[in-house]
Amino acid sequence: MEALSAVRARRRQALCALVGAPVLLGNNGTRPRNLPINSLPFRSDSTFLYFTGCTEPGAFALLVDGACTIFLAPPEPGDELWHGEVPSIHARAERLGIEHARPLGELGDAAEAHAGRLLTLAVPDPAITARLARLSGRRLAYPASPGPRSLVDAVIQLRRTRDAHELAEMREAAELAGAGHRMLMRATRVGGSERGLAALFEAFIAARGAVTSYHPIVTVRGEVLHNPDYPNPLRDGDLLLVDAGSESVGGYASDITRTWPVNGRFDGRQRALYSLVLAANEACITMCRAGQRYRDIHFAATRMLAEGLCDLSLLRGPVDDLVESGAAGLFFPHGVGHLIGLDVHDLENFGDRPAYAAGRSRPLQFGARYLRMDLDLEADMVVTIEPGLYLVPAILHDRALRARFGEQVNFEEAERWLGLGGIRIEDDVRIRPPTEQGGEPEVLSGRVPKHIAELEQLIGSGPSAEERLSA
Ligand code: GLY
Ligand code: MN
Repeated sequence: MEALSAVRARRRQALCALVGAPVLLGNNGTRPRNLPINSLPFRSDSTFLYFTGCTEPGAFALLVDGACTIFLAPPEPGDELWHGEVPSIHARAERLGIEHARPLGELGDAAEAHAGRLLTLAVPDPAITARLARLSGRRLAYPASPGPRSLVDAVIQLRRTRDAHELAEMREAAELAGAGHRMLMRATRVGGSERGLAALFEAFIAARGAVTSYHPIVTVRGEVLHNPDYPNPLRDGDLLLVDAGSESVGGYASDITRTWPVNGRFDGRQRALYSLVLAANEACITMCRAGQRYRDIHFAATRMLAEGLCDLSLLRGPVDDLVESGAAGLFFPHGVGHLIGLDVHDLENFGDRPAYAAGRSRPLQFGARYLRMDLDLEADMVVTIEPGLYLVPAILHDRALRARFGEQVNFEEAERWLGLGGIRIEDDVRIRPPTEQGGEPEVLSGRVPKHIAELEQLIGSGPSAEERLSA
């Protein structure tokens, strides 16, 4: 494979060619909690990382006609004592394969030389964004005003599909998180805790030199879609939902969800709903081919789930009407997935522009309005496929929804299912070019068990989280 530094140089040249103007990119800074060394967790800005590979907080990169100058903090006298030896800015630039390095203090003058022409992008760090706005003389705010349209569009065009290096990173990220999921399945016990499993996942990823790609969701209350807390014990009869991913060394994300019974056996209702979600997950994955409209995958999932819910007397057909009205969305209240790359919801900081093709906008139905993407899939895009079914009290007890969907939703029957929580099965899927293996989708998370028999065999088959963490 071509050296990564050469790949990044080509990315920078492509960006300059697309926008035809000098570009100034800034990395995030660190954010102290009370003193600089005690800072909130630092993560490089993904666009900065993509074009430079530089993970230094507060660094800037000036791109002019394809050539790059990186602005870095020079070593300080106390560095060796407090932080270890810091190489010169030139040595650090050379390691990244970047042509020119200058001290950060020279950034203002360098930017001044391109006054009026400089294009730049907002980053999550407000102080850096304010500095970029001053240097470029443009209004910037993260994420509301991400930057000039020409630059945003060029970044989207380059970052939306993956090159060979990126695919290798994404396979690594999925492998790592997948191994973490398998460990959690083995470590699950009645009498254990959400907290124990969450800690085990974090420890497993950290021990391999990586970080999680988002705050892991480990919950027996999976009906809270992004449940952030871990207060619950694991009880006999609970379904556990684990939505947890890791980053690769280069910062690429995986995003994997599995749901399994704490006691190792799906009961009748759990099995019925799980089988519907699994069938939808598998059918949607087979649809992930170049040229396929992603929104149609979402509605295919909705239709399959609605059919199954009719068989279980939770919905009353015709199925097309249930999809059209949004009634099915009361049990599937989110979109079927999103782009994934250097960010979990990749490029979402640029709003809907990266993931909605021109002229397309969000569907209006309940649930479908959370669909994060409506593109025709292209080779080497990576997307998630994550259908789910949920018994959400806040939805099922909502008076307005009960009045609106009383004909189509069997609220009385749904009441009997409450407490089951939520089921989501999420995989990361690469769209293959039609010339490679017939264009069959590549499931990066394909080694994480999801079939009932394999889950039931694995659950509880290894040391518990508490045993592992106390060892
Ligand atoms: N893993 C969380 C999400 O996709 O929204
Ligand atoms: Mn996801």
